[in-house]
Amino acid sequence: MPFLLAVSASHGQSGGDVNQRVESLLARMTLEEKIGQMSQSTSMNTPLSDAIRAEIRAGRWGSFLNAGSPGDRAEAQRIALHESRLGIPLLFGRDVIHGYHTVFPIPLGQASSWDPELVEQAARTAAAEASREGIRWVFTPMMDIARDPRWGRIAESLGEDPYLASKLAVAMVAGFQGKSLGDPASVAACAKHYAGYGAAEAGRDYNSTWIPEILLRSVYLKPFHAAADSGVATFMTAFNALNGVPSTGNRFLLHDILRDEWKYDGMVVSDYNAVLELIKHGFAANEADAARKAVNAGVDMEMVSTTFFDHLKELVASGQVDQRQIDDAVRRILRLKFRLGLFDREPPAPAAAEPTPQSLALAERVAAESAVLLKNRNHTLPLSGNAGSVAVIGPLADSAVDQMGTWNTDGRARDVRTPLAALRESLGAGRVHYAAGLKDSRDLSHDGFAAAVDAARRSDAALLFLGEEETLSGEARSRAFLDLPGAQNALADAVKSAGKPLIVVIMAGRPLTFHEVAGKADAVLWAWHNGSMGGPAIAKLLFGENVPSGKLPVTFPRTVGQVPIYYAHLSTGRPASESELGIPMGNPEKPTGYTSKYIDVDFTPEYPFGFGLSYTDFQYGNLSLSAPVMRAGGTIVVSADVANRGTREAREVVQFYIQDETASVCQPVRELKGFQAVVLKPGETRRVSFHLGSADLAFYNSRMELVTEPGKFHVWIAPDSTRGVEAEFELR
Ligand code: NOJ
Repeated sequence: MPFLLAVSASHGQSGGDVNQRVESLLARMTLEEKIGQMSQSTSMNTPLSDAIRAEIRAGRWGSFLNAGSPGDRAEAQRIALHESRLGIPLLFGRDVIHGYHTVFPIPLGQASSWDPELVEQAARTAAAEASREGIRWVFTPMMDIARDPRWGRIAESLGEDPYLASKLAVAMVAGFQGKSLGDPASVAACAKHYAGYGAAEAGRDYNSTWIPEILLRSVYLKPFHAAADSGVATFMTAFNALNGVPSTGNRFLLHDILRDEWKYDGMVVSDYNAVLELIKHGFAANEADAARKAVNAGVDMEMVSTTFFDHLKELVASGQVDQRQIDDAVRRILRLKFRLGLFDREPPAPAAAEPTPQSLALAERVAAESAVLLKNRNHTLPLSGNAGSVAVIGPLADSAVDQMGTWNTDGRARDVRTPLAALRESLGAGRVHYAAGLKDSRDLSHDGFAAAVDAARRSDAALLFLGEEETLSGEARSRAFLDLPGAQNALADAVKSAGKPLIVVIMAGRPLTFHEVAGKADAVLWAWHNGSMGGPAIAKLLFGENVPSGKLPVTFPRTVGQVPIYYAHLSTGRPASESELGIPMGNPEKPTGYTSKYIDVDFTPEYPFGFGLSYTDFQYGNLSLSAPVMRAGGTIVVSADVANRGTREAREVVQFYIQDETASVCQPVRELKGFQAVVLKPGETRRVSFHLGSADLAFYNSRMELVTEPGKFHVWIAPDSTRGVEAEFELR
């Protein structure tokens, strides 16, 4: 590669071990150039301005985010490599959250597949498309544990459970980063938002979080630790204050845990303006103080705000920030750039990435595996392909943009296939009677109802596509009401009056409360915002070409007043029992008993974690343990039969839960410790086994030590977090 030689001749960056190259470059950098590397800007507009060109030449920026066209990025990179004093390449980062031009389901949807391999493939595809357009760093995966559907960013999460979220986060990292970061089709991933952001009080975005250290370690930090261990290249701080200390200035998180305990040596970027926001938090007195606190806590790169560039020089001169702290940050940034091969390659010619038949087929598969069948009265679904005609109704039936969901930055409506388009194609336009009923999910007008009811009357079944517009989901989209917005409930009533089988498909970015609609519906398919190929995926599920196999990665409440509600809660001293169920929703009953429940709604969720139906019937039985006793350091194998007693070949996600029955710190009533998918033919039975080691039984005690304590443990092999076949063993 002639360019490589030219670069190495002038800058001495080629060959040798990355650390040597970093050190030799670092030794030649001015303090100003170092601080430039620690600065990330969003101000690279199209076309490149002379001012930005000059700044790149001067080494003012180490990175740009969400900026420029592919051509601008290539040109900016050329300037950095050839016209800046030291030829240090830029790093272009972007929010490639669930696909690039090929849009996959929102992360919470992907999590419903419980399929790490598939999730990895989706990330790999996004990496290939984004890197073709000059992006080598993605701000993904978001692994904040989310137990509050009011929080709009639950859409970006991998759900409520640390075990499932860890497995999926690690899979995404593997997909983005590939076998080697140096592969031009690989991108650096980013574990965000570190930490606790998902626990925003009252589900209001950016709000404070109060998480006792034991809960932080037992739940919220677990996916981050797993991602760090798996080699994720970068971390991003969170906007929230955690226990009163903003994450972006939180030395306990960024230094004591991340660096000292976990030995993480990747790069840490702040979130957008989060360093400057230390002032608004009431944590820093002014910009210089904010820069000092962020760098001393362990932030390596500042996103968007410029307190580092404006103040670090004087802070180093006055001894308030140690030069070694700066050098360490720059080392981590340069190391990443070397590992990505950015020094060793001419920027690729600007190229446009397009979805391919393969990427779209993958998007369809992910959308299919993400869908969760919540109700199917009398086998309403699947519909027979020979059945006459269907009415397609609802604000989400043909809305390409909404279907892509939050963070559809690089998705294009023209690449999206909606349910309406897919059903017209598969059934023929003459068999599809379409009436939107409502213009969008918030529309309050009943003007379109008559046409919708008419369409239902003329059809053999009514398919009602309800949900949320994409703009109601994601960052800064917290909701205090979780109902279907607008006049959607009334639309469901109207369509129901046509007297046809009512199949409700819900496309949304968060769990919603839709108790009454579910009651009226014959079947409910929960589809999430499911990306470019959501339409064909849904059509094939409705007509039985595919069988739903998704399982909820998050608990669905009956009403917002139950939030936060999650499966892995502790018991109380007065747990409610099943005999206390059946409380009508919304109207207080005459109180009975002194147990932990509500008097105006059942204490159980509408749909539990792990839940999802199939068109076939799976039965669980014959649980056995390889031994009744586990010794410290030992393992036992827990096995059960899973049988397909229905008539369809189908995939089942088999879940494995435990409970530590008695411990010095109370443990959750159930905790996920494993899952496996099996595909079974009708009549087929498979023995499914889970290996449990004594280390898997460890928990944090009140001194924050990870310990196992002898005693009895309960195990379940189960179709969801509320049922299953069970047994008990003892740890000695
Ligand atoms: C703010 C968001 O919190 C973060 O997730 C995102 O990566 C950055 N903005 C960059 O757009």
